[in-house]
Amino acid sequence: MRVGIDFGTTHTVAAVVDRGNYPVVSFDGVDTWPSLVAGNAAGELRFGADAAAVRHEPGWSVLRSFKRLLNDAGPQTEVTLAGRGHRLADLLTGFLARLRSDLCDRSNAGLAPGETVEAAISVPANASSAQRFLTLDAFVAAGFHVVALLNEPSAASLEYAHRYRSTITARREYVLVYDLGGGTFDASLLKMTGPANDVVLSEGIQRLGGDDFDEAIVDLVLAGSGLGEVDDGRRDLLREECAARKEAVGPQTRRFLVDLTAVDRPPFACGIDDVYAACAPLVDKTVEILRRVLRDPAAGDEVTTSEVAGIYVVGGAGSFPPVSRALRAAFGDKRVKRSPHPFAATAIGLAVHLDTEADFELSERFSRHFGVFREAEAGTGVVFDPIVPKDAPLPADAHSPLVVRRSYRAAHNIGCFRFVECSRMVDGRPDGDVMPFDPVYFPFDPALYDRPDLGRHAVGRWTDGPDVEERYEIAPGGAVQVTLTTQPAGFRRTFRLERRAAAAS
Ligand SMILES: Nc1ncnc2c1ncn2[C@@H]1O[C@H](COP(=O)(O)OP(=O)(O)OP(=O)(O)O)[C@@H](O)[C@H]1O
Ligand SMILES: [Mg+2]
Repeated sequence: MRVGIDFGTTHTVAAVVDRGNYPVVSFDGVDTWPSLVAGNAAGELRFGADAAAVRHEPGWSVLRSFKRLLNDAGPQTEVTLAGRGHRLADLLTGFLARLRSDLCDRSNAGLAPGETVEAAISVPANASSAQRFLTLDAFVAAGFHVVALLNEPSAASLEYAHRYRSTITARREYVLVYDLGGGTFDASLLKMTGPANDVVLSEGIQRLGGDDFDEAIVDLVLAGSGLGEVDDGRRDLLREECAARKEAVGPQTRRFLVDLTAVDRPPFACGIDDVYAACAPLVDKTVEILRRVLRDPAAGDEVTTSEVAGIYVVGGAGSFPPVSRALRAAFGDKRVKRSPHPFAATAIGLAVHLDTEADFELSERFSRHFGVFREAEAGTGVVFDPIVPKDAPLPADAHSPLVVRRSYRAAHNIGCFRFVECSRMVDGRPDGDVMPFDPVYFPFDPALYDRPDLGRHAVGRWTDGPDVEERYEIAPGGAVQVTLTTQPAGFRRTFRLERRAAAAS
């Protein structure tokens, strides 16, 4: 069975490939599966729908929006749940393994026990290499046969192409995907010609989504009701209530009413404009990113708003009225189109991608800058060397990865590589969502080949160093690994770029 799986901050959605159709899988009659993990002090865990079922029971704590933790995480990152430490990577694997078994036992997917699941999966366009590796590893460990890893807005563009191909004309062949989910905001500009969907460029904000609207509304309610600060448990209950009220807001809503029983207070009410005003700075940031995408020189001089066939709004938080209002004000009424499946557009697009019969091709681009800091001026300064530029075209298949090579004569006994990814470069320096990786240490001096603790060994300058070759391999899903080789000795090591962050919460 072939399944597109969109692991989201709030919801996880699956869509299957079924003879030219891409039906969304329902679990116990619901088209989304909650992205939740629950745990108790005894160390028992529940995932997805099972976690939602125990979330208010005494003794259980819930971890929400844990996808947000992945961007800064490494394989050893721990989170605390009900007073116990768990590895985030294990929680994600457990979560996905449960999803796999629920696909079998509690869904209408028709998956037989033991049947191979060929999965296309996705990550936010802005996701780091670390997030890409962690997500991929967890899906594989959970028993999925992962055949593709796409950026979420690129997948959503395939759903658009599948549904609205006819809106694309020679004069209007660009589509701007606006994906505002629970945790992340992504915007991608795509050029659609014939069967080809070419990602021109992507921009985004790693931590901006419906969760942040909820926080802004909770702050408004706490201030407006005179509650001030409350403990974490009560804030969680209030956030759940505010999120539900926010989701019920429609274009005609005038008043915003919140039940405060959970915090022993009478209901809170305010005009809807107060809520919109509290969220406006967040909405404005997303509109600013769209403008930046359309102005970007990489989009080519001639991409003007009139050449954009549509701004395609996907993701649940795009349903919030101030979002469509701001987009219409900025880009015109006609151009803004909401997906009929805001929660499922990404999963459906992933299924379209898996369908060998569907006549669409996707060419992805690398969605961040990748480079390394190195010493300069004989150790007195630091410069940044870009290695893979943002928007470099990515390969279509894993057998022919994008490869970048560099070589030089080693000037030290140990190479210490401080790799960084970032969403923007300003004056040759990383800027905006800068993600440093754990340093990579590599012995240039043969006497140090077997030393396990190079990070603690003194680095010294060395006049007699070998030639070094760096070989960077960028997979179709955008994850980077580096192989370092000395010549003529031929000593070689391969590193996956990871982060060994401390406890995430
Ligand atoms: N009608 C609505 N109005 C406003 N917000 C809504 C509405 N419906 C859902 N949301 C919000 O949308 C968010 C969930 O959207 P979605 O399922 O697309 O996110 P996700 O895919 O889980 O997250 P991400 O893509 O960021 O990882 C939640 O914050 C939810 O409160
Ligand atoms: Mg999403």
